[in-house]
Amino acid sequence: MEMLEEKKMELWNEIDQLARNWINQAGDQIRASFQKTLNIESKANRNDLVTNIDKETEQFFIGKIKSTYPEHRILGEEGFGDELKSMDGIVWIIDPIDGTMNFIHQQRNFAISIGVYENGIGKLAYIYDVVHDELYFAKKGEGAFLNGERIQPLRKVKTDEAIIALNATWLVTNKHLDHHLMSSLVRKVRGVRSYGSAALEMVYVATGRLDAYISPRLAPWDYAAGKLIVEEVGGKVSTFEGNEVSLIQKGTLFVSNPFIYDELLNDYIKVAKIQTDRK
Ligand code: IPD
Ligand code: CA
Ligand code: CA
Repeated sequence: MEMLEEKKMELWNEIDQLARNWINQAGDQIRASFQKTLNIESKANRNDLVTNIDKETEQFFIGKIKSTYPEHRILGEEGFGDELKSMDGIVWIIDPIDGTMNFIHQQRNFAISIGVYENGIGKLAYIYDVVHDELYFAKKGEGAFLNGERIQPLRKVKTDEAIIALNATWLVTNKHLDHHLMSSLVRKVRGVRSYGSAALEMVYVATGRLDAYISPRLAPWDYAAGKLIVEEVGGKVSTFEGNEVSLIQKGTLFVSNPFIYDELLNDYIKVAKIQTDRK
């Protein structure tokens, strides 16, 4: 029994070392791409962008993972991984570039996001802010770290002193959230920000730079890593109904400092969610 536990620990340490190494290499490649011309295409709509770098980065990770751990499965945004129907075994959930629009327009405010799960439980999480060379990392049960320094547990905040992240789309008529109620939330809190990268917005909640993040339309690769990082510092991650987020299907995401979670969820988010909104 003890032997098995030791072997497992060794495996997770090895996965961690390799993941860091691959993330560094991918970061170098992404930084080098700033000097080159990007090949930009659109996906579901004209603002849903993908570049050759998103695709190459995902293929790079998948190549490394599959050649080292052929039994591991991979869910990647750009579709080069496996088709997942369950979270059985070890599953890597990868967003090669979260914040592609920022990557293209700003060359900042984007990140590599990788969550490694075992039977549906987050074990390791990495969000790498490539431009600032900042690696946010969490290991299940061992806390979260920014470039090796422990991120402190989230402290008490009050709603009227909170800064929340919210896309301006949800403050005009839209089919996901009642914008009147969202406007009253905006008036209630101290400030509102929007960075355009779910992964970064989640680690900003984890580090207390933001106190909540609300998004009605995200995919598992947007939040798989951020979920573990936020939870390891005591933050809350749920759907707009207050349920566990799915790692297989798209859905709503509410991330919050634990001290304002109930109030924001019950007084604003649950009520603002437009009920006809079925995905
Ligand atoms: C997007 C970003 C953005 C969020 C979008 C995501 P992508 O991810 O996280 O902040 O509002 O819904 O799709 O496409 O840049 O990886
Ligand atoms: Ca994304
Ligand atoms: Ca992406």
